[in-house]
Amino acid sequence: MAIIKAPRGTNDVLPSDSYKWRYVESVADKTAASAGYKEIRFPTFEETELFTRGVGDTTDIVQKEMYTFEDKGGRSMTLRPEGTASAVRLSLENGLLGGALPLKLYYKINVFRYDKPQAGRYREFNQIGMELYGAKSPFADAELISLAKLFLNNLGIEGVLLKINSIGCSKCRADYQEALRSYFTAHIDELCDTCKSRLQRNPMRILDCKSPQDILLAKNAPKITDYLCDECKEHYSAVKDALSSVGTEFEEDSGLVRGLDYYTKTVFEFIDKNTSLAVAAGGRYDGLIEELGGKPTPGIGFACGVERLFPLIPNFGTDTVPDIYIASIGPSAAKAAFEIAKKLRENGVFVETDLMERSVKAQMKYADKTGAKYTAVLGDEELEKGEAELRNMKDGSACRVNIRNIGELTAILKNEIHICD
Ligand code: HAM
Repeated sequence: MAIIKAPRGTNDVLPSDSYKWRYVESVADKTAASAGYKEIRFPTFEETELFTRGVGDTTDIVQKEMYTFEDKGGRSMTLRPEGTASAVRLSLENGLLGGALPLKLYYKINVFRYDKPQAGRYREFNQIGMELYGAKSPFADAELISLAKLFLNNLGIEGVLLKINSIGCSKCRADYQEALRSYFTAHIDELCDTCKSRLQRNPMRILDCKSPQDILLAKNAPKITDYLCDECKEHYSAVKDALSSVGTEFEEDSGLVRGLDYYTKTVFEFIDKNTSLAVAAGGRYDGLIEELGGKPTPGIGFACGVERLFPLIPNFGTDTVPDIYIASIGPSAAKAAFEIAKKLRENGVFVETDLMERSVKAQMKYADKTGAKYTAVLGDEELEKGEAELRNMKDGSACRVNIRNIGELTAILKNEIHICD
């Protein structure tokens, strides 16, 4: 019978690679902790309305890419296409915004978008995101952007370009939307069908359309930076000053608008110079918390696409290997190895033994494959004497150890005592 394959656009994590994920996540944990961000976890699916209201019903994500289904109770549910709306929902529902501000949260999630699968673009992918609520200061924007950069640096990632822009607030946006509407109306026949429908309701979305013809048209469209109000201009300039003062290099891109509706003022993307793909992106969203039922509260955040980071990480460290492989000859020794392994594991030692009833030669071959640091072979003689030879697989040195003294064996294997040196 043919095997069933994973759905298109999804990825498996194989046992030989899972330590790489743990590495990236542990770097995220350390980076987040260095600025006081606390981890949150939220459901994989939410009520669809959270995303139509939060992300925006004229965005590609909501119009084309959501995995939406009716549950058995007839409610419309959606697999999360991003984390920001859920993080706001969680904060509102649990009263977190009534506590000490700023509120700093981070998450490690899988997300789902029905996109066209290709290199670096998947239908299920992983994001690590950080969100900051309550701060309207431009230093909050600069700190958050610098934190995203620090995360990339802590992973050893180089060759990434930071692009920033300001897309203004609801006040300056109105004039800009009008200018866009009249520009695109003059080219209405050239627009794709989705963008024709966006023209009245949200012409800014046309700037983010992936259709080649619309990308060309967008190049000559009016720029938001020419329409910013004084407050937005001042904010943008203070963010740039703050970034420069800490040496976070950036390039301004007045065409950067982002694909989600909640953004206001600062938006940014970290671009992989080789592939031109965004590896991390985000921005300020001062209207989202109110839009989702909270009091007007500023917010800013970013999310990295973890799969896109992987090819840029120079060194993931190494996977853990067994502290010891206990080989055995015959059933009594196999039983003794089984018992010793259990006790050592209770002390936190990583132990492997034979479960395949193999010859001692085959067991040692397997031990070698696992990269075990030490090996010991138990036979009738070792059981009788209560002693075995402990071999250091790196330098070949060996010494005799008491196999009944689990405390001493643990200390040797954890490098706490060095009676073998
Ligand atoms: P986003 O730009 O839609 O923003 O996604 C963030 C990152 O996820 C992208 O920069 C990219 O690295 C990765 N990504 C997006 N789509 C795919 C895909 N199909 N396959 C692989 N990776 C992908 C957001 O999701 C916002 N929630 C970010 C944010 C947080 N803004 C404020 N706070």
